[in-house]
Amino acid sequence: MEAAGAVGDAAMAELRERLAAGGQDHVLRFWPELDGAARRALAAELCHMDVAEINRFFRRARGDGGGAAAVAAGLDARMEPVPRDVLGSASRDRGLVPGWESRGLAEIAGSRVAALLLAGGQGTRLGVPYPKGMCDVGLPSRKTLFHLQAQRLRRLQQMAEEQHGTACHIPWYIMTSGRTMESTKEFFQKHRYFGLKKENVIFFQQGMLPALGFDGKILLEEKGKIAMAPDGNGGLYRALGLHGIMDDMERRGVQSVHVYCVDNILVKVADPRFIGFCLEKGADCGAKVVEKTNPTEPVGVVCRVDGVYQVVEYSEISLATAQQRGPDGRLLFNAGNIANHYFTTAFLKDVVNTYEPQLQHHVAEKKIPHVDITTGQLIQPEKPNGIKMEKFVFDIFQFSKKFVVYEVLREDEFSPLKNADSQNGKDNPTTARHALMSLHHCWVLNAGGHFVDENGTRIPAIPRITNGRSAASPADVNDNLKDASDLPIQCEISPLVSYGGEGLEKYVKDREFRTPLIIDEDGIHELVKNGM
Ligand code: UD1
Repeated sequence: MEAAGAVGDAAMAELRERLAAGGQDHVLRFWPELDGAARRALAAELCHMDVAEINRFFRRARGDGGGAAAVAAGLDARMEPVPRDVLGSASRDRGLVPGWESRGLAEIAGSRVAALLLAGGQGTRLGVPYPKGMCDVGLPSRKTLFHLQAQRLRRLQQMAEEQHGTACHIPWYIMTSGRTMESTKEFFQKHRYFGLKKENVIFFQQGMLPALGFDGKILLEEKGKIAMAPDGNGGLYRALGLHGIMDDMERRGVQSVHVYCVDNILVKVADPRFIGFCLEKGADCGAKVVEKTNPTEPVGVVCRVDGVYQVVEYSEISLATAQQRGPDGRLLFNAGNIANHYFTTAFLKDVVNTYEPQLQHHVAEKKIPHVDITTGQLIQPEKPNGIKMEKFVFDIFQFSKKFVVYEVLREDEFSPLKNADSQNGKDNPTTARHALMSLHHCWVLNAGGHFVDENGTRIPAIPRITNGRSAASPADVNDNLKDASDLPIQCEISPLVSYGGEGLEKYVKDREFRTPLIIDEDGIHELVKNGM
């Protein structure tokens, strides 16, 4: 046996035996070619790897013994839309919204609400070499997604304190992965936690799994390096247990958790309306959705399968099912998942302690660059050559005893950042920037403000009727502007000033503004047009 550097010979022999027993000892094929540091790194990686468990995951995910693939079979016939009685709507139930909001704010004021950000993804489609939350989509303020989210939390704390007269905190749990932890933490340190208290921003790390060939063999990224990827956003539940996060929540008295994805520029972090709605309904688990209107939009749909709630992911639904329409002409499966979930801590605790091992991995077939085991050549495949296994955050819906769905308007709450500007016209930095500015434009109009063009002429708020909407909505504004110049009015309101459009009258009522308009904690700024 070759010397293993810092790893003792006995430990190395044990490792080799374990790999051989699991049929994975090919990962040591290039061991003789590696230098000391590379050997130490590879051995350290492999020592932490439970090969038997990985093989078990592979067999289950591939369908042996009724795994995920078997469960997915015949899915279409077993899907039913969400029944009306579990559904609440921010627009149709407008009269109930103030009650939900005040219930949610009371909960926040009592420091019983936490936000939990899923930020362990690699952002492959966006193609940036840093975590997605650090993206600046080109807003006039140049704030990043992390910055906006942090300021929304600060504003909410302030609103809850003002209404209830008690100091409160919304702890912010941030799940990262081996790929994003260090840079995320550094970014927060550099920006002094965006004004939040450091002790209320808690980072923890999800697990990683090796990429496998179709035959279940672990792939090598380099001769001395395993091709590892985060284990999916459903890796959350294992990570919560491993890092003592549930204990931390318990210590802080947290009872409700808002779990959400990093990439939605409009996300209402710890949304008091959503939280209040779930509390009013006595739910242990809830999902926020927008109406899915395009069958091929890459959003999962919340539905029931065999009577049990779940999300059928966009990669797993058939086109025929996605295209089905109900009697009203809308898509039958239209509860589009925007990756905003509500969980009680009691429910999360049950998941972590009891149900997590029952969650099955989903399989994504991918083109995975790898070292050919026989030739040692690095291969860049042109078609999928292997799989990544991921758990999904919403797969715990099935264990809920009281599940609810809360529907919101897309233009108010959903504009995800998935692609680079160069790739296509959807879900990219430009659409994200425009969505935020259109929404803020609308807030100004609704608070009684007006915009004027360079000649001082008022820009009409609603030059034409769109989709039967009666008040100015960002979608109307957007539609109209597309006709004009394809650019939205440049208007950005700091989350420290307004969380959801509230409190703007004192700044804008009966006033006229030129763009770009920025309203922040220092007041109103009408900037010289900068061509953005
Ligand atoms: C996700 C949802 C999809 C929804 C869509 C809305 C899941 C599995 N899918 O799809 O139903 O319609 O958002 O935009 O939730 N992440 C981790 N660890 C990982 C992988 C991802 O923390 O191992 C995080 C990402 O950082 C991101 C979020 O999970 O915040 C969503 O990941 P992404 O891969 O972008 O999900 P989508 O495929 O867009």
